[in-house]
Amino acid sequence: MPAESEFTVTPYSVDGNVDYEQLLNQFGADKLTADQRKRFPDPTHPLVRREVFYAERNLDPFLAAANSGDDHALVTGRGPSGPMHIGHIFPFYFARYLQRAAGTTVYIPFSDDEKYLLKDQSIESISDHTRENLRDLLAVGFDPKRTRIVVDSADADVVYPVASALGKEITQATVDATYGDPENVGLSFYPAVQATHLLLPQLVEGRQPTLVPIAVDQDPHVRVCRDVAGKERHDVEKPGALLSKFLPSLDGPGKMSSSDDTPSILLSDDRETIREKIQTHAYSGGQTSVAKHREQGGNPDVDVAYLLLYYFFEKDDQRVQRLAQEYRDGSLLTGELKQLAAATIADFLEGHQQRREQLGPLHTELQPYRLTDEERRQALQTIGYPDDSLARQDSE
Ligand code: TRP
Repeated sequence: MPAESEFTVTPYSVDGNVDYEQLLNQFGADKLTADQRKRFPDPTHPLVRREVFYAERNLDPFLAAANSGDDHALVTGRGPSGPMHIGHIFPFYFARYLQRAAGTTVYIPFSDDEKYLLKDQSIESISDHTRENLRDLLAVGFDPKRTRIVVDSADADVVYPVASALGKEITQATVDATYGDPENVGLSFYPAVQATHLLLPQLVEGRQPTLVPIAVDQDPHVRVCRDVAGKERHDVEKPGALLSKFLPSLDGPGKMSSSDDTPSILLSDDRETIREKIQTHAYSGGQTSVAKHREQGGNPDVDVAYLLLYYFFEKDDQRVQRLAQEYRDGSLLTGELKQLAAATIADFLEGHQQRREQLGPLHTELQPYRLTDEERRQALQTIGYPDDSLARQDSE
């Protein structure tokens, strides 16, 4: 673990006290400007308004297309290594907001291969998480006409040939420099797979601005992909990135990870479990006694119950401001704030859980979101494979 002032952020580990500004220098990304925030569809999503999405790379072409009705796409994926918690879901609800407001095409890749290569888990266990996570994704409520869900192992007929073509242009030195020495050759190759994810909408539907909204630790994947996309022979635009801070874990601001000892709030948690987890584990910015709190007030900026409301769950700006104010002046107590956060999160999750329960068998529900045969052919052709090469008659 690095010292207080130090931190490391890579796609595979986040350690120390993250300095979000300094990270931008390190990664070469830019702060989101007020003007850019205004160009998101109205009403602007709280994640943008409140600067949880705080930085970007090449965002302007995407905003221009979204505002003028031109084709544009968004890619945000899921590594299915466990049950999903509330920190995992916000990019997907954000994608749904853009799709509903601007008709955005949304691609959702599942990197089951990546998680198998990275984690000490059987293929069967990763497959189980994949199926469960897919149900959560389907419960978000995307428009099947404008949404494609791709699972690396199940859609290998497209993913593998494209990843091979792109992988040829990614050197081992780039992979080592971007991710640290990979543990196995599978992980060495995986950046070519994630580059495939980010270019897939363009390979299927034609050249168009593409945005990847992700937590800032995933930015290296975008950088590698942009390098490859920049090669002349590919008729694609370099994908842009919209980078977010990490939703706080219950034990304090920092990355919310499901592998720590402190529990996370799972999408499947019921009201009582959510209340219990927040009461017991949510780091508090309040004082040690009620009397002291009434007198000195609390600090919402480090209070996890408040931060969860601020980051995602309380949509109303005035309400969220009032809570911060009342917490600071001591009229709102830690226990009350926790109750409120728990209830608001439970309301949101009940909606999600209801939609999830209404789903039929996974295979049937997923079908309208899978790439069609024509779309698969198109992707392979765009990357340079002759159309239907094995089906061709020998007599030709
Ligand atoms: N690598 C991501 C993770 O570990 C999951 C992922 C796969 C992804 N493909 C993606 C994220 C494309 C964003 C865009 O969580």
